[in-house]
Amino acid sequence: EHLIVNASSGRPIPETLFGIFFEEINHAGAGGIWAELVSNRGFEAGGQNTPSNIAPWSIIGDQSSLTVSTDRSSCFERNKVALRMHVLCDSEGNNICPAGGVGIYNPGFWGMNIEQGKTYKVVIYVRSLGSINVSVSLTSSDGSQILAAANIVDSDVSNWTKTEVLLEAKGTNPSSRLQLTTSRKGVIWFDQVSAMPLDTYKGHGFQKELIEMLEDIKPQFIRFPGGCFVEGEWLRNAFRWKESIGPWEERPGHFGDVWMYWTDDGLGYFEFLQLSEDLGARPIWVFNNGISHRDEVDTTTVAPFVQEALDGLEFARGASDSKWGSVRAAMGHPEPFDLKYVAVGNEDCWKKNYRGNYLEFYDAIKHAYPDIKIISNCDGSSHSLDHPADYYDFHIYTSASHLFSMTHQFDHTSRSGPKAFVSEYAVTGKDAGTGSLLAALAEAGFLIGLEKNSDIVEMASYAPLFVNANDRRWNPDAIVFNSSMHYGTPSYWVQKFFRESSGATLLDAKLQTNYSSLVASAITWTNSVDGETYLKIKIVNFGNRRVSLKVSVDGLGLNSLLSGSTKTVLTSSNVMDENSFTDPNKVVPDLSLLENADKDMNIILSPYSLTSLDLL
Ligand code: AHR
Repeated sequence: EHLIVNASSGRPIPETLFGIFFEEINHAGAGGIWAELVSNRGFEAGGQNTPSNIAPWSIIGDQSSLTVSTDRSSCFERNKVALRMHVLCDSEGNNICPAGGVGIYNPGFWGMNIEQGKTYKVVIYVRSLGSINVSVSLTSSDGSQILAAANIVDSDVSNWTKTEVLLEAKGTNPSSRLQLTTSRKGVIWFDQVSAMPLDTYKGHGFQKELIEMLEDIKPQFIRFPGGCFVEGEWLRNAFRWKESIGPWEERPGHFGDVWMYWTDDGLGYFEFLQLSEDLGARPIWVFNNGISHRDEVDTTTVAPFVQEALDGLEFARGASDSKWGSVRAAMGHPEPFDLKYVAVGNEDCWKKNYRGNYLEFYDAIKHAYPDIKIISNCDGSSHSLDHPADYYDFHIYTSASHLFSMTHQFDHTSRSGPKAFVSEYAVTGKDAGTGSLLAALAEAGFLIGLEKNSDIVEMASYAPLFVNANDRRWNPDAIVFNSSMHYGTPSYWVQKFFRESSGATLLDAKLQTNYSSLVASAITWTNSVDGETYLKIKIVNFGNRRVSLKVSVDGLGLNSLLSGSTKTVLTSSNVMDENSFTDPNKVVPDLSLLENADKDMNIILSPYSLTSLDLL
């Protein structure tokens, strides 16, 4: 087997090629990248009617010491439900409160990860007709171990009052809870109870370790916030950006009826734009086009949805004195965000009103923002679209062998017309489990095909990105986490092999072989840190044979080849191996020096492996 790389000529790969797709699925955002620790912080998750279910809040104490209910007395107009706690016991008299007091606790999203030495900001809106003395504490899951505590003592909270405490943890516990307790008789209302670590990614509220995983793969864009999450099972439950902006306390939150959980929408439209900026990734906003899984707005009445999208663009890009730009400015970002891509809906091409609705959005957006690139849900890879678009969406979830064979998917696609955006792809089903090496290798083969076809495929993103292991709605996913741990699946690690590709130069790389399980590509890319140009060759061996591959590099003035060159291999003893919390590094890239680096060299490719040769 022989791989011949011709480095004397090449063509540029689009700057945008590899990015990420973030969807609020699997508690990826609420209870995931958004660092809010309290679940159902506004007591709205049970609905806007009272009495309502306050889960996962629970009560500390029994009926002789307190009663807890909900009413609609909140000071926040769009989320009126508040929690009412009637404390019947006291610190003296004939109904003495139990030691530690009575009250409520919130276990967060399957436990709060509280870490020694870290500081947590707790915000509580409170009201009472009498004076209050409330202990705010972070404790172990049964309340027995107190990690941090402070008291809120106030003689006049007859009007709703915002209180804030900083708690520094004296211990570590990944399944902690937040307690609000008292030993003073009376009635107290609570609303909008938030607990967040002070230390978040760039100070913008994101969970640091998880976002650093994204930083490591250098995404060139973020498509957000879904997926089906954007559509909703029913339109009334779809993500609507206007409900997700402004002060967090005032956001109504909503029940995502596709992935079946409540989100307080602390992670809203603004935060997605901010995250894109913080990661240096282009935002790609997917908005609802008046179509959900089960209901649709007719094109004759879609105008309010179109206006909502235009307002969303003004929010992102408008001057800070424009109607919606001023709302953005008030949230701390007077400069416009660099929003240049929007997708009109998600997977709706086959729906009755899609084309009609799409054209309404298309015309209005192109008129107001001619530079914005518009993405259609209709696949234009096998025949031309019957409507104008800058990009078309292409989604593929399939078996490993099929995805690997799709390395040639775009070889014969028409080069005229809109570009392809492979905005969701993954191996799923039994080949993938919850994230196998086999799946990852098939994806690597597919991505090599996209690199080679990047004159027509301009963007690609794996899906889904995150899963909270306590709420697996979709398998597999790229990054798995719980309250305190996280790891990348082999599919995540494949992404890392492609992080230099966007904006690189694609070289001609010819495999002379009869072995159809091999695919390879080669790029040169310039490292912005040292200004040096590197050659990177990637080879997938999707078969069970060990392969001895001769690699020849022609036409490159390689620096006296090539001390410091490296070889990185992703493989494992069993192709179905997966990573896990107990063995997070079972299938991770293995980096070694490439001792025999030269213009001609022999490389051994392990069965079922992805190999990268990085030559200086
Ligand atoms: O990625 C999971 C889901 O798959 C997305 O929400 C949807 O777009 C697709 O069907």
